[in-house]
Amino acid sequence: MDYENILVDREPPIAIITFNRPKVLNALNQAVMDELNAAIGELNADPTIGAIILTGAGQKAFVAGADISQFNELTSMSEAAEFARRGQAVLDRIERLSKPVIAAINGYALGGGCELAMACDIRVAADTARLGQPEINLGIIPGYGGTQRLPRLVGRGMAKYLVLSGEHISAEEARRIGLVEFVVPAAELMEFTRALARKLAAKPPIALRLAKRAINEGLEGNLARGLVYEADQFGTVFETEDRVEGINAFLEKRKPVWKGR
Ligand code: COA
Repeated sequence: MDYENILVDREPPIAIITFNRPKVLNALNQAVMDELNAAIGELNADPTIGAIILTGAGQKAFVAGADISQFNELTSMSEAAEFARRGQAVLDRIERLSKPVIAAINGYALGGGCELAMACDIRVAADTARLGQPEINLGIIPGYGGTQRLPRLVGRGMAKYLVLSGEHISAEEARRIGLVEFVVPAAELMEFTRALARKLAAKPPIALRLAKRAINEGLEGNLARGLVYEADQFGTVFETEDRVEGINAFLEKRKPVWKGR
């Protein structure tokens, strides 16, 4: 598929999706969301790709939010709710994708940009990045999952501070509160993130998928349900050839060769 608003670079075993509307700081409109959804589906189905990176074009922004110019087109409550649901579905798909997705936050990650980063499995930020949920300053609230994923990452109080104040925070502050996992010098962002993506892509794919799913499931329900789910997945992963290979390779002091079976 040809894309107009994003770039998709395949560098097997990883792929990079770049939001490419730098004139509006890579703001998300419906076309971007549709292309993102299509690209995610394509890469998930591509057996040569084991991990995906999301980043933004230019030096200034990862994604500066939903495209504010489209908000006045939402004329009814139901249209606005539908807008939120459509965006949430794409971010949900990223969170549940069978391959790891890493956000390389190269600049502003505000509103929908911060929400998108939070739907990724791991976040790496350039030391120049700024993050926040500034919707309150537009008289609205986060609609792409921010009110739900932010407290799960940073806790209730800090989530409320960020959503209710609309303040942006630095990459280092974001790391301190658990909103991003790594902060690196801006010039090293892509090199660091590529290395991380390659590291994950080299892991046994079934175990990777089940571990990701077990963590997601556990956070969605209560602890007891999460533990039951984890034990089930632990059972499933033991059925794989990769489990036999991984354990034998360790005992035989050699590198495992994963088959994805
Ligand atoms: N939607 C649409 N356009 C956006 C945008 C968004 N979310 N964020 C930035 N832009 C546009 C600006 O309107 C500007 O366009 P112009 O050159 O035609 O005037 C261009 O991108 C550059 O942004 P600008 O505001 O001039 O850059 P800045 O360095 O002064 O400020 C920000 C950067 C990120 C602080 C500021 O752009 C901003 O606050 N953006 C909105 C963030 C937001 O509220 N996001 C949540 C939306 S729900």
